[in-house]
Amino acid sequence: MESNIKSVGILTSGGDAPGMNAAIRAVARAGIFNSMKVYGIYRGYKGLISDEIEEFKTNSVSNIIQQGGTILKTARSAEFMTEEGRRIAYENMRKHGIEALVVIGGDGSLTGAGIFAGEYNIPVVGLPGTIDNDLSGTDTTIGYDTALNTIMKAMDKIRDTATSHERLFFVEVMGRNCGYLALNSAIASGAEAAIIPEISIEKDQLGELIEQGFRKSKSSSMVLVTESDVIGGAMKLAERVKTEYPQYDVRVSILGHLQRGGSPTAQDRILASRMGIAAIQALMENQRNVMIGIRENEIVYVPFKRAIKKDREISEEMLSVLRISSI
Ligand code: F6P
Repeated sequence: MESNIKSVGILTSGGDAPGMNAAIRAVARAGIFNSMKVYGIYRGYKGLISDEIEEFKTNSVSNIIQQGGTILKTARSAEFMTEEGRRIAYENMRKHGIEALVVIGGDGSLTGAGIFAGEYNIPVVGLPGTIDNDLSGTDTTIGYDTALNTIMKAMDKIRDTATSHERLFFVEVMGRNCGYLALNSAIASGAEAAIIPEISIEKDQLGELIEQGFRKSKSSSMVLVTESDVIGGAMKLAERVKTEYPQYDVRVSILGHLQRGGSPTAQDRILASRMGIAAIQALMENQRNVMIGIRENEIVYVPFKRAIKKDREISEEMLSVLRISSI
């Protein structure tokens, strides 16, 4: 299909996620395959404002599918939040003749994309690039599977110490108020529990766990905790244990940014490749203001407004898998 769009810019924005490079590669190659000019925009919206833009050829994205991070670099831009910043960004797009944008990032990046697209009537398609898996309308996001595997491997190592010393470990993972990483890595690593923000704040998750005697038949335990203001983090929970349940030898491990790095899994590379090609397809079909999602293994278009809505629920079934499998 011959497209009306003759040129497209790609940028990555917000926190980096493994698989972003595979997505950049797919978008660039699909654009060129469909006779478009493709431009790499460096440092996210910041680079769109400071005009860090370069035309990409097919070999600009060679040898990157296996690399973590993003070759385009990434940033969070305060200037793009202002009308003046977005005006300059638009002028730079016009200067290079860029007609459409593919934005790879999380909810903040897609929110910015929606505002920009609305103001200047630009076709913009988003790809969900975040380890948090906190976007609605898609079963998963680019980088989530890799982060999950990274956490699982770290947990396998921490378990050695937990078992040898018969300790209670709180392991804090990322997710920015979204419990997917904590819950699913708890299941994958055979942990005892996950303390996540989706469970009502009124509920004392720690107290309940301990009262229910979750360590009855075990001498060591590992509990995943989502970083979150609601819960207060693993450190706070450990402090509580020290004063309220001094019988436990408690330790904390905060996994931090190691969760965001590393070579993407096969699943993330395939997902990113499918979504990247779908982004160009969507532009050719005159779609705009949509994020590419995946539902039941089918590509779907999710309006930005829907994607950034924080109404994604944690599955009761997954919670029960963890509860039952950890008795
Ligand atoms: O959104 C991805 C994420 O890694 C969150 O899980 C985390 O809260 C945040 O980014 C950390 O951001 P930064 O790298 O800017 O500290």
